[in-house]
Amino acid sequence: MAVVVVTGATGTLGALLVPALVQAGHEVRAMTRTAGRVRSAGATEVVADVRVPASLRPALAGADVVVHLASSARDRRRTDVDGARNVMIAADGARVICLSIVGCDRTPLAYYRAKTAAEEAVRAAGGRVVRATQFHSLLRTVFAPRLLGRAVVPAGLRLQPVAEEFVSSVLVEGVADPAALPDEIGGPEQLDTAQIARRLTGRAPLTVPAPLPLVRAVRRGSLLAGPQARTGGSPLA
Ligand SMILES: NC(=O)c1ccc[n+]([C@@H]2O[C@H](COP(=O)([O-])OP(=O)(O)OC[C@H]3O[C@@H](n4cnc5c(N)ncnc54)[C@H](OP(=O)(O)O)[C@@H]3O)[C@@H](O)[C@H]2O)c1
Repeated sequence: MAVVVVTGATGTLGALLVPALVQAGHEVRAMTRTAGRVRSAGATEVVADVRVPASLRPALAGADVVVHLASSARDRRRTDVDGARNVMIAADGARVICLSIVGCDRTPLAYYRAKTAAEEAVRAAGGRVVRATQFHSLLRTVFAPRLLGRAVVPAGLRLQPVAEEFVSSVLVEGVADPAALPDEIGGPEQLDTAQIARRLTGRAPLTVPAPLPLVRAVRRGSLLAGPQARTGGSPLA
């Protein structure tokens, strides 16, 4: 069993992954910037900030594997890009698995550009990048009813929503066995805007314009997992 550090341990995915790794028998350190936020029994909380190298060194010392999930769309340059570089240095030879986003390099969004730069930093330093499609929780937020019980979203998007539990289970396998890690993880089905809205709100969506290059890319399938992806998990409901 390994010493595993999870960055972003208090996030949507991290909160599932930490107990799953404990359950698998690993010695787990769960990282947060704020003491007292880690609630998983059996994991040890470590307080560090990926933007601050001095805080990372003790948090990652002696790790066999680092699963790097920490991210911030608002502070993406410092948290995702500089943070990935800092994690790679502090990992000091530990195996690093960094979660990124399917199609981030072909979808024109500022956050996705930062994820692409973070991927480059991780690969350049010998880490492993695994990409996932959009989580169910993200789509529940984006497609929440906003006007007369209807979602307000761009038309014609094509997405492959994935359950966080499935992503977590694939990462647990990959911690134990690097050969089990796929390059991409996706949900079991591809859905368009109208299908997602109907599933989550029971109603057709109201559609709004979005920047053309972004809409074109996503309509072409930029966010869909490739044929080699590991797909599965529960369907969006
Ligand atoms: N959400 C999706 O649909 C999706 C899809 C594919 C891939 N991903 C990727 O999967 C990863 C996890 O996503 P998520 O949705 O679970 O994240 P999340 O819920 O947004 O949580 C972000 C985490 O990052 C930590 N964090 C933020 N800034 C930090 C910093 N400066 N130093 C250390 N920790 C910091 C936060 O911890 P504290 O606040 O406790 O410090 C929190 O645990 C991300 O890399 C994301 O890009 C997400």
